[in-house]
Amino acid sequence: VKRVRVHHLRAAKERGEKLTMLTAYDAVTARIFDDAGVDMLLVGDSIGNTMHGHATTLPVTIDDMIPAARAVAGAARRAFVVVDLPFGSYEAGPQQALESAVRIMKSTGADAVKLEGGRRSAAQIRALTDAGIPVVAHLGYTPQSEHLLGGPRVQGRGDEASEHLSADAVAVTEAGAVAVVLEMVPAPVAAQVTEIVAIPTIGIGAGPECDGQVLVWVDMAGMGDWSPRFAKRFGEVGAALTAAASAYVDEVRGGSFPDAEHSFDH
Ligand code: KIV
Ligand code: NA
Repeated sequence: VKRVRVHHLRAAKERGEKLTMLTAYDAVTARIFDDAGVDMLLVGDSIGNTMHGHATTLPVTIDDMIPAARAVAGAARRAFVVVDLPFGSYEAGPQQALESAVRIMKSTGADAVKLEGGRRSAAQIRALTDAGIPVVAHLGYTPQSEHLLGGPRVQGRGDEASEHLSADAVAVTEAGAVAVVLEMVPAPVAAQVTEIVAIPTIGIGAGPECDGQVLVWVDMAGMGDWSPRFAKRFGEVGAALTAAASAYVDEVRGGSFPDAEHSFDH
């Protein structure tokens, strides 16, 4: 299989082919999603919520991201692997961003990094791009700013806010971003941004007109009992896993597992 490379992203937009992205935090799910044909795997800092049991993404560190990114990049055969720069690893300026991104790129085999913010992060995007590191931007609801934004809320509503969002999208494009995630943005605003910029927009809670879509895999698969309104449950994997674990518990307790077939005679 041919790997998805950076030039395929813009080509997909030009051809009107939708890009698909899912988060992955380990080799097992990365291989499954890669085999399913997912174009891009995001080692998201949502690992903090989904895998490490934190309430927010804020506690996540580069040291948390590196083993996850290494596992995902190692397992992916086709997908383009993007790794989040966690909170506190790039905001201080281009130098800090470069040090963080270089650490990740050197030690994981990832294809790109992602960071949050538009104009406020443009200098960082430029520095990484100049250093040869592809950057995915992230606009709209940016979870690392959740305390400032007052929690997960739709961003870019109204004329002024949508103009700010468009200006941010243009700024990250001009700074060299290879794609931009739009999170919790009204569908018409995301459609307008998608039309304005030449790089692919990847939506999450941003309507159907984006060039691609991303979901957090545990939401997509129906792992928990709750998922956000914009995250359709494409399976009930949590229920399937509970059923498998319960069956295992019952059979061990009842003495029917292991049987002869799963034992060694000598
Ligand atoms: O960390 C993450 O999962 C993300 C997606 C929601 C885009 O940034
Ligand atoms: Na993220």
